[in-house]
Amino acid sequence: MRTQVAIIGAGPSGLLLGQLLHKAGIDNIILERQSGDYVLSRIRAGILEQVTVDLMREAGVAQRLDREGIVHHSIELVFAGQRHPIDVHGLTGGKVVTAYGQTELTRDLMDARAAAGLTTVYDAGEVTLHDFDGSTPTVSYRKDGQTHTLACDFIAGCDGFHGVSRASVKDRVTEYEKVYPFGWLGVLADVPPVSPHAIVYGNSERGFSLCSMRSMTRSRYYVQCPLDDKVESWSDTRFWDELRSRLDPELAERIVTGPSIEKSIAPLRSFVAEPMRFGRLFLAGDAAHIVPPTGAKGLNLAATDVKYLSGAFIEYFRDRSAAGIDTYSQRSLRRIWKAERFSWWLTTLMHRFPDSEGFGQKVQEAELDYLVNSRALSTSLAENYVGLPL
Ligand code: APR
Ligand code: PHB
Repeated sequence: MRTQVAIIGAGPSGLLLGQLLHKAGIDNIILERQSGDYVLSRIRAGILEQVTVDLMREAGVAQRLDREGIVHHSIELVFAGQRHPIDVHGLTGGKVVTAYGQTELTRDLMDARAAAGLTTVYDAGEVTLHDFDGSTPTVSYRKDGQTHTLACDFIAGCDGFHGVSRASVKDRVTEYEKVYPFGWLGVLADVPPVSPHAIVYGNSERGFSLCSMRSMTRSRYYVQCPLDDKVESWSDTRFWDELRSRLDPELAERIVTGPSIEKSIAPLRSFVAEPMRFGRLFLAGDAAHIVPPTGAKGLNLAATDVKYLSGAFIEYFRDRSAAGIDTYSQRSLRRIWKAERFSWWLTTLMHRFPDSEGFGQKVQEAELDYLVNSRALSTSLAENYVGLPL
């Protein structure tokens, strides 16, 4: 088998890359370790920057997103029992974010790929990358008891944090990492969102909380929890009581509760691997970087990597220019580090740190007070929230 771009991983990065390349007439095959159903069962954040919405449109897969995405003009911060709106739209000269679940975005991309008749090999085992330092890379994998080899011009490593692509170059990458001393307990429930027009971020003495949504009838809520907590010790009742206790009285009163349809605990991590190119192998998305979920930058960063990488491949095949592939890593990392900084900053601002002394706590309170009363700092928050310019 032969293709122009072998894509490892059918998460949002791999699927979006495949679709953009296909639109430009570049053939590609995706190798995915899991089944399609498994990929669709993963629940992740769901706030899209304009750049991500635009890319979905460019890929021709935004019909449902345009219909069902919920446009947000503002966010709200809750602390010391009070709610403070941040007018993201006004502070950024008219920019917005759109609430649309990553699962739905992945489903739209999968459907479009199937409709275009493009090859995705699910349940591909033992995916192994070969010869990407030379001009004729290949990828081998096991499927149905047989070993197959895929020859290609380029390999796109879109296989997430635990994938084989970064592992294939582990002695050539520099890794930067920060692990946070708490997790997020997330609940999905078929109840109307408490705040349909603004995502709410709360900092209370009991810890962080977040009110988000997937639609006007499906809500996504989170509370900060200790890393060693077990989901089983969180009944629905305990979760709703805890969430209410972290919000201001008016929101707490208004919240509609119901049975959870998903409940999980996730750790928080900041991580960057540099560089993102090794000969004819390119890393994109979670394969190269992780952000803590505060601010929902993970999917948006993956989308920007894919924008740069698809552009670079198109330049290479259409214009015979290597300029894009030569600058891919440097260009992506510039944007990635800014999103890393923002996600770290918002996480630090909004969570209670178990090891924080009195001084750290007081500085955090002062910063929150400064933020909601300073147009300069609110603008900084807003422009990062909607996504910095490309
Ligand atoms: N071989 C083939 N596929 C693999 C391998 C492997 N060895 N290892 C992992 N994969 C697959 C995973 O099963 C997964 O479907 O690669 C895919 C990677 O998808 P994601 O983890 O969703 O990563 P990415 O597409 O970069 O999406 C980034 O996901 O975690 C969120 O916050 C993040 O929203 C962001 C988005
Ligand atoms: C989510 O909807 O899951 C979400 C929203 C905003 C965030 C993080 C996660 O900052």
